[in-house]
Amino acid sequence: VSKRLFLVANTTIHELYGRNLLVNLESAGFEVTHILIPDGEKWKTLETVEKIYTYLLAQRADRNSNLVALGGGVTGDIVGFVAATYMRGIPYLQIPTTLLAQVDSSVGGKTGVNHRLGKNLIGAFYQPSLVLIDTHSLSTLPEREFKSGLYEVVKYGLIFDKSFFAYIAENLDSIKRREPMVLEQLISRCCEIKAEVISIDETETDLRRILNFGHTLGHALEAATRYEKLKHGEAVAYGMMAATVLSREAGFLEEEECERVLQTIMAIGPLPPVGTVSFREMLEAVKRDKKRQEDQTVFVLLRDIGGTVIRSGFSDERLESVWRSTLACFGD
Ligand SMILES: NC(=O)c1ccc[n+]([C@@H]2O[C@H](COP(=O)([O-])OP(=O)(O)OC[C@H]3O[C@@H](n4cnc5c(N)ncnc54)[C@H](O)[C@@H]3O)[C@@H](O)[C@H]2O)c1
Ligand SMILES: [Zn+2]
Repeated sequence: VSKRLFLVANTTIHELYGRNLLVNLESAGFEVTHILIPDGEKWKTLETVEKIYTYLLAQRADRNSNLVALGGGVTGDIVGFVAATYMRGIPYLQIPTTLLAQVDSSVGGKTGVNHRLGKNLIGAFYQPSLVLIDTHSLSTLPEREFKSGLYEVVKYGLIFDKSFFAYIAENLDSIKRREPMVLEQLISRCCEIKAEVISIDETETDLRRILNFGHTLGHALEAATRYEKLKHGEAVAYGMMAATVLSREAGFLEEEECERVLQTIMAIGPLPPVGTVSFREMLEAVKRDKKRQEDQTVFVLLRDIGGTVIRSGFSDERLESVWRSTLACFGD
């Protein structure tokens, strides 16, 4: 790491952790300039990226400068994209402060911003030179954000590691109390799994696709609720439940395992109700998904807890009936 750092954080995180970090880095001999961005997904845009470029240029940041992303996935995605493109690429570090960012967005090198016509449509694959995770930063994370990240944690167990899934189910109380030791176990295992999946397969082909478990209908649900009603992880929780029901109905997953999965997801905490969402709109969103292949929607399904199969070709009627059964779990 060079001595010249540009620390990017949103206003919330700057107050909570940025100021201190800045002081500590300076006393460790780094020359640090901080860049503030506004808080929120709606600022994950090229305009914000452009503002950061301008600032970096004005400050004469060069290829020996390092960017540091301090914050959640929004900050990480923006900063990663700036790093990938500023002067054709400068190094960057990630210090993720949300559970979602610690287990997902900071690992894997996907960077980017949203476009008026859709989420994450502009971006680049660009790896950080370092990811620094401090589980203590999660102590200030709002409850809903924390739970939203937990659903993604469960995903790793479901797609890859049955005993990890069992560990989560058994330790749910200590996890919810955010005991640092338990969180450390949890987060490091998620990063290992993600790194393992991605190292075998760095771009978006078969194995990496399993990370999308629950995301086909999850993304559709986010779109159909206008990105207002649900956090990403909550939408994914619905999507994982639906994919689990589909796995059972398509004959891949045993009834008992299916129940176990649904129970565990629901045990994390109540999901905001979505009973009134239009399934038609969800289907339309599914059909716009950038991960479709030859006009087929691909689903990651479970053949067991910890094991997946990839299938496509499900009819709209089939998907709708699965969606209804999923909502029925909530008595909707
Ligand atoms: N690059 C990838 O592979 C990847 C993967 C998944 C998600 N994402 C992206 O990540 C984004 C979502 O990330 P997110 O859920 O971290 O959202 P976020 O970055 O918006 O953070 C959520 C909220 O929590 C606040 N916050 C963050 N850390 C905090 C802390 N320690 N204490 C108190 N408040 C804190 C933030 O200021 C924000 O208001 C989306 O844009 C999504 O597209 C990217
Ligand atoms: Zn996700």
